[in-house]
Amino acid sequence: MIVGIVLYSIFLNLLCISCLELDPYDFESIKSATGSIAKGVLDYYDGYNYGKPIGLFQPPYYWWESGGVWGSMLDYSFYTEDKQYDDLIKQSLLAQVGEKWDYVPLNQSTTEGNDDQAFWGLAVMSAAERNFTNPEKHEPQWLYLAQSVFNTMSYRWDEQECGGGLRWQIFQWNSGYDYKNSVSNGCFFQLAARLARYTGNSTYVEWAERVWDWMNVTNLIDGNSNYLVVFDGTSTNDDCSKVIAVQWTYNAGLMLSGAAFLYNVTGNPHWEERLFLLLQGISVYFRDGIMYEAACQSSMNCNNDQRSFKAFFSRFLGLTAQLVPGTRDIIDWYLLESAKAAAQSCSGGTDGVTCGLNWQQGGWDGMYGLGEQITALEVIQNLRYKDKPPPFTAQDGGSSEGSDMAGYHFEEEEQSHLNITPGSKAGASFITIVIGGSIISALIWLIL
Ligand SMILES: *[C@@H]1O[C@H](CO)[C@@H](O)[C@H](O)[C@H]1NC(C)=O
Ligand SMILES: *[C@@H]1O[C@H](CO)[C@@H](O)[C@H](O)[C@H]1NC(C)=O
Ligand SMILES: *[C@@H]1O[C@H](CO)[C@@H](O)[C@H](O)[C@H]1NC(C)=O
Ligand SMILES: *[C@@H]1O[C@H](CO)[C@@H](O)[C@H](O)[C@H]1NC(C)=O
Ligand SMILES: *[C@@H]1O[C@H](CO)[C@@H](O)[C@H](O)[C@H]1NC(C)=O
Repeated sequence: MIVGIVLYSIFLNLLCISCLELDPYDFESIKSATGSIAKGVLDYYDGYNYGKPIGLFQPPYYWWESGGVWGSMLDYSFYTEDKQYDDLIKQSLLAQVGEKWDYVPLNQSTTEGNDDQAFWGLAVMSAAERNFTNPEKHEPQWLYLAQSVFNTMSYRWDEQECGGGLRWQIFQWNSGYDYKNSVSNGCFFQLAARLARYTGNSTYVEWAERVWDWMNVTNLIDGNSNYLVVFDGTSTNDDCSKVIAVQWTYNAGLMLSGAAFLYNVTGNPHWEERLFLLLQGISVYFRDGIMYEAACQSSMNCNNDQRSFKAFFSRFLGLTAQLVPGTRDIIDWYLLESAKAAAQSCSGGTDGVTCGLNWQQGGWDGMYGLGEQITALEVIQNLRYKDKPPPFTAQDGGSSEGSDMAGYHFEEEEQSHLNITPGSKAGASFITIVIGGSIISALIWLIL
């Protein structure tokens, strides 16, 4: 019997020759595990090839996710001090700024929504806060770009319908224009909170309050005196009177860490209260401390976008814990259990270190992709949040330059996008139907 067990474990070890090892308390081990995962992330990168766009990952990954991934890689460089990808990260963030330096490039206008633009905005915000190498003088600066995204989004704040809020889509011709969702508003809220802390300008705090209040009034943020949760979105067709009650990790994370930035900069107790209520609410995304995307993972129904959400959620947990020490007990447990489980899932594929989707599996579950790689990367690297300084501000170490006038070209923007061809319109609604379809299938699952 005992001999059998010993032989069996030797057998398992042999199978796992190139398995990802992780000692979550050891920097060198974190560095080597994340190093191997980061290499796997870049297997999906296309821009090295002649004629391929710089900064973008291969289809089927959408444009927004590339912005998300460069944000993850930037934090990888910050947390592990492995600088080998810095030039690539910088070049990629600058390649997609678009003609107006606002992350609304013309060639994305058939698909780009507020949330898509904002994920690039959050990445450059991190570049400012992590004091990442500044672009050349003649290029747009990180803070400038973040402000440009913020300013263009604030211009789209829409009081005509539902008394406020951002629509999912920027452009009327894209379907989903009638949907006001938490990811668009949550990104805007978070960007406001971070700009408030970085610049010390209270106008951004006022915007954050406005977004929060609107999300509260529409019940996109919902709960009671014990917890708060964040729902997916609401339609202008019925005056935002009903919410689509699906919950995604990254939406909760956007609101949670946004509130943490605001509490940190303002010291206002209502941000503290909201933040701790949201912290209670996120327990729905954990089983035995291990993170999962509850709305789609149990039904094995996560699309390419959704398979990456835990990455941003992990990043937001790290930021929250850096800024509000009172959240660390619970976040440490979540990150530790999730990171250990994620590392175990990274034992698949032909390289033997490909990461999976379901971290509760105790090994690789056969799933793979860009989302699986960055989620494992983020959850493991965020174990390092205590060993590195919290986000810098303009006062204490940040060196990026911006301008309040960044992105002020709104009328031009509206004009230049009106010359779109019917063919590209059809393409856009096809894509939104696919995304809409996956929301519907998630809903059907929830109802069942
Ligand atoms: C879109 O145009 C930008 C220039 O603004 C370019 O850098 C980018 O590679 C283009 N994207 C695609 C997918 O061709
Ligand atoms: C939501 O708004 C109501 C009414 O103004 C207020 O009493 C409540 O405290 C708000 N809740 C949150 C979480 O902001
Ligand atoms: C803000 O964050 C810093 C850095 O973690 C921390 O030292 C400080 O106590 C925080 N302030 C508040 C009000 O939580
Ligand atoms: C931030 O970067 C600038 C420019 O490289 C540098 O002078 C400054 O010392 C850096 N700040 C910190 C806190 O490292
Ligand atoms: C604060 O930001 C707003 C919005 O960008 C700007 O209009 C205002 O001039 C800024 N205030 C200060 C004191 O810099």
